[in-house]
This record gives sequence, structure tokens and C-alpha cells, in this order.
Amino acid sequence: MIWNKLALPRIESLRPDVPLPPRLLFAASEATPMTKTGGLADVAAALPAALRELEVDVRVLLPGYSSVLSAITHVQPLAELPALGAFPACKLLAAQGPDRQQLIVLACPELYERAGGPYLDAAGKDWPDNAVRFGLFSYVAALLSADSSPCEWRPDVLQCNDWQSGLAPAYLRFGGRPHASSLMTVHNLAYQGIFAPSFVPRLGLPSQSLHIDGLEYHGNMSFLKAGLFYADRISTVSPTYAREIQSEPLGFGLHGLLAGRNAVLDGILNGIDERAWNPATDPALHTNYDADRLPDKARNKTELRRRFGLRQNPELPLLGIVSRLIAQKGIDLVVACAERLVALPAQIIVLGTGDADIEHDLAALARDHAGTVAFMRGFDESLSHLIEAGADIFLMPSRFEPCGLNQMYSQRYGTPPVVRRTGGLADSVVDCTPATLAIDSATGFVFDSPTPAAFLAAATRAVHTWRQPDLWRQVQRNGMTRNFSWTASARRYRDLYQTMRPAT
Ligand code: ADP
Ligand code: GLC
Repeated sequence: MIWNKLALPRIESLRPDVPLPPRLLFAASEATPMTKTGGLADVAAALPAALRELEVDVRVLLPGYSSVLSAITHVQPLAELPALGAFPACKLLAAQGPDRQQLIVLACPELYERAGGPYLDAAGKDWPDNAVRFGLFSYVAALLSADSSPCEWRPDVLQCNDWQSGLAPAYLRFGGRPHASSLMTVHNLAYQGIFAPSFVPRLGLPSQSLHIDGLEYHGNMSFLKAGLFYADRISTVSPTYAREIQSEPLGFGLHGLLAGRNAVLDGILNGIDERAWNPATDPALHTNYDADRLPDKARNKTELRRRFGLRQNPELPLLGIVSRLIAQKGIDLVVACAERLVALPAQIIVLGTGDADIEHDLAALARDHAGTVAFMRGFDESLSHLIEAGADIFLMPSRFEPCGLNQMYSQRYGTPPVVRRTGGLADSVVDCTPATLAIDSATGFVFDSPTPAAFLAAATRAVHTWRQPDLWRQVQRNGMTRNFSWTASARRYRDLYQTMRPAT
């Protein structure tokens, strides 16, 4: 291995009696605005930024996808790693992201520079070499966190996010002396990174790791289980989800392990980037507004309707959805009651991409109800902001939701959400009842059972409330003035990292 010295600046303490803030390596397989398929990208941009304000010395480790390489500046070569086992030769670059993030980019053209998404090819199939792509990513995260790392800048804590960096705690466990403690953060337990057992030796891990007390999962290897088993601590993205994953069905087969480790498991609710998601300044809106200029919100609705050929009728509330179109998100509940929603009456607009069947059903609805239902297939960041602003009510009937960000964006945009009581939705939306209205805490409409009837009842309550303008304004204002910033949660992470610092 030929490593150059990693010359990243150190923060020196002027007060030796006061401990230095922790140094954190945050390994993430996507980060806004360079590459995004879902909420992890938003978190990987906003949480490190909030941590920096708390003086945590954080570097984000990202794979060098083409979209990352073309967006970074101040690039400095840090190290070169020759081919090793299944891993091709690669380079590490220190760089700045478009939002001045401090990045370490893992450049390996053979693995990461291709047309298509970070995990799927252009046809929507998993890249066949994902085990090697994210095996290398995990390996490098561990290497940078090990005592043997030749880099000057060493983290106190390595935070792994989801299965793509889940193997890093296993490499730390078997690869010599770790310098950093490891935290495995679960954003979604449904994705586990499961591969054939033959990858264990190919990825340089010892056969003893392929064990029930290890990374073995029903005869295969699991990247996520490796992280959950070998990491020093575990966290997930809401307190309710932290409880839900300790039993079936949301434990997805890992509930026993999680329940057994619950003494080191924390649920910390995500925040939102309040600069990027602010209706008063958002450049993607037709007209900006805030809680004191609510009538201006309506111009965004007019614009949305104009763009999507929906009828301009003031009697009709507009129900909005921005989502990955997968079973988790409960879009089938919306499809199942679409006729009843339209008959309320209401209009529906959906932006999303995902399973062919759900896309097909939504396209059919839009055809059958031209002027009332619109479906835009695709991923469009700026349109997602306009829908948050232009819709009256946001629909998020997820079957499960580790945290969810859109329900928080929608509350901030004065677009009360209809959500199922699960995961982060349960932790961030307050159901509208006489009691919660009386104390000005109602921000949305919550239902329990994942059935079309329960969802329809909550959506109907939302539409009835929308028809009462004073009441509606109150619910809108409650959501818009609620604090969804990262500040409190970033402090909790910082305190957690402090407790994890290896003793010096
Ligand atoms: P998940 O990560 O499970 O998809 P989240 O609610 O945490 O769910 O985050 C989803 C993020 O992806 C949000 O920022 C949302 O606006 C965005 N998003 C999802 N689908 C689309 C789309 N089709 N176009 C633009 N943004 C989208
Ligand atoms: C995952 C979850 C989502 C969460 C996001 C960010 O994609 O599905 O609920 O908000 O990660 O933590």
C-alpha cells in the first residue's frame, strides 16, 4: 500500500483542560446536492453541517460517482491504494462540496463512474458488483479509522450509515487496532445488503465472521447485520422506529439482535435543513411566503395546476405526494381510494418514481381523471419543493417510515400532512383533535391501521378541516412555527460521540 500523508488541518485546543470536540468520519453513500435517491442524502448534507456549528470536526466520506467528481472543488490527492483482493486500485481525494462540505472522496472509476444511479443501473436493477463497490467503501472507512491509518487526521468516531458502509465495523474488528469507535446508523432496516457467502473471503474477511454471532444471515452475508453486530453503538432516525425494529414485523429478521443490543441503541429524530426548505426564500417556488403571508401560498397552487393541466377551481383542495413509489410508502392505499378522494371532491398530484406497477396505476388514474389527477413520473428536486408549497394537504400513508422528511417539509410549508402513526411520522406529526387544537399543537392528520378505510377517514378529516378556513390557518401555523431544525438532534449526536471517544 502506498499512502501519502493525509494533511488535513487539525483544530488545536487553546485550553488543554477542555477536551477537543470529537472528530467524526461520516460514511454515506449519497449526499445532497451531489447525489440523491432519498432522505439519507438530505441527512448526510444537513447533519454534518449542523455538527460543524457545534464544532465537531467532521469529514464526509463519499464514493466518487461522476456526479460527485464533477461537483467538488479544492481537490487534493490524499492517498493511493493499489488493487487488493477483489478491490481495484483506488485513490482518496480531500475536497470541498458545493455547500462547503469537507469531503473525502473515494475515487475508483471502475466501480463508481458509470451512467445510472448509485445502487441501480439505468434499467433499475442492482449493480451486479454492489458487494465489491460497497465492500471497498466500507473497507476504506475502516482503514481511515484504524490505528494503522497513515493519515494524520484520524476520527474518534466512525459513523456508518445504512448497509453500504455496514461492513466497516467488521473490518475494524478483524483488521488490527481500531483508532475510532464505531456507530452504525440505520436509516432503513428493509435494505440489508445481502450477498452470497462466497463474498466473505473475496472481501478479505475471515471465515469466522460468517457465523450467527457475526455477519451471517440465513446462510448469506449481510452488510447491515455486520454493522449492527460489530459496531460499538447503534442509532436509528426516530425514537419510535428504535422501538419498532426490536420486534416483528419491522425488525425484518434482525429484531432479536437489536433487542439484545438495546442498551447501546438510540433513536434520534432527524431534523431538516431549514435553509434549503424555507418557503420564505425557496427559489423553486412561484411565490415565497411565510406564516404571516399565507395567502401568497395560493399562487403556488395556481402555478402547479397550470403546469399540470389541473382545473383551477377554488372549491377543490389539492392533495400532494412526493415519494419513492415503493410498497413501504403505502401509495397503494391512495390508489385504492382514489375514486373516493376525487369524489370528496379533491384533486391529487403525485411526483415519484419506483415500482412499475404503482407507476402504471398512477398513470391510469391520471388518464381517467384528466384535470383532477396528475402524475409526474421522475425525480425532480425543484418540482418537489413546488408541490410542498402548492398542495393544500400532503399525503404520506407509509406502512413504515424510519423517520421521513417530507412530512416535516410539508408542515414547514403550511401543507398539513396525512400520515400513518409509525416511526418518525408518529414522532413528528400531532393529530388534529379538539384537545390538540385547544393547545395549538395540532399539525396534521394521523391514522393507525394500514387500510384504505383508515387512510380515507384521515384524508376526509383533513379535507373537512380545510373547508373551515380559520381552523385550517391555525393548523398550518402550528406546523410552520414548529422547530424542525437539526440543532437539538445534532447536540444529541455530539453528546453520543463524546461518550464514545476512545480513552486517551
Ligand atoms: P426516503 O428516504 O425513504 O425516500 P424521506 O422522506 O426521508 O424518505 O426522504 C425522501 C427525500 O427524497 C425527500 O427529500 C423527498 O423530497 C425526496 N424525493 C423523493 N422522491 C422524489 C422525487 N420523485 N423527486 C424529487 N424528490 C424526491
Ligand atoms: C430512509 C428512510 C426515511 C428516512 C431517511 C433519512 O430512507 O426510509 O424514513 O427519513 O432514510 O434518515
